[in-house]
Amino acid sequence: MRVRIVKDEEAAARVVAARVTTALAAKPATVLGLPTGRTPVRLYALLRQAFAAGRVDFAKAVTFNLDEFAGLPAGHPATYRAFMEAHLFDHVNLAPRRIHFLDGMAKDPVAECVRYEKAIARAGGIDLQILGIGANAHIGFNEPGAGLVADSHLARLEPGTRRSNADLFDGNVKAVPREALSMGVGTILRSRSIVLLATGVGKANAIGATVLGPVTTRVPASLLQLHGDVEVVLDEAAASKLAMAV
Ligand code: F6R
Repeated sequence: MRVRIVKDEEAAARVVAARVTTALAAKPATVLGLPTGRTPVRLYALLRQAFAAGRVDFAKAVTFNLDEFAGLPAGHPATYRAFMEAHLFDHVNLAPRRIHFLDGMAKDPVAECVRYEKAIARAGGIDLQILGIGANAHIGFNEPGAGLVADSHLARLEPGTRRSNADLFDGNVKAVPREALSMGVGTILRSRSIVLLATGVGKANAIGATVLGPVTTRVPASLLQLHGDVEVVLDEAAASKLAMAV
């Protein structure tokens, strides 16, 4: 893993935005894997700005989002699709048919996940996967446990994960779905390049375990150590448990 530590959240978002714009300049049809959450908000703002300034073109880009809540109807404001539309998709020239999501309303989640894996494969695989990380070191909705599911699957959300998503539901944690469809760790590891973005002291323990700890399903992001092209972009707060490595 390459670890890059920059001063603050703004600088970290700039590093990752540059990765995206550089990838699209080199290969306009880049297949991007995208996260939602608080962490990438600034990244998406920078990409909107870059697009408005004519510095990036999404016309041929293809996107696959990491995850989607189960059971929220299309158009529900807390869906991750709605988040992506608000923060990026409605503001750039990404063709709707090139935007891919797991369907959280699918009657048959297993078939839906098979469809998603096939769609990723048909697109030629993910070129650049951007990730956030949970305070418990989850990536996508791959929560810590005795084992992990490799491919896209229906995942059960930990109470802490539901709490940290409560903002999307006006602070009502009970309204946060208990399940989500998520890419698996294998789906993520099949990406050609991976960038993990983490900011804030709340992520410091998870980052310490991810970068310095053993590879274990108890720390899902530690499996990224098995990949040959991972950049971990951190602000100083998120890097604060990496003192030995700096
Ligand atoms: C979201 C996702 C999650 C988040 C993680 C961090 O699509 O896959 O793994 O990246 O929960 O969330 P924030 O950025 O809100 O701290």
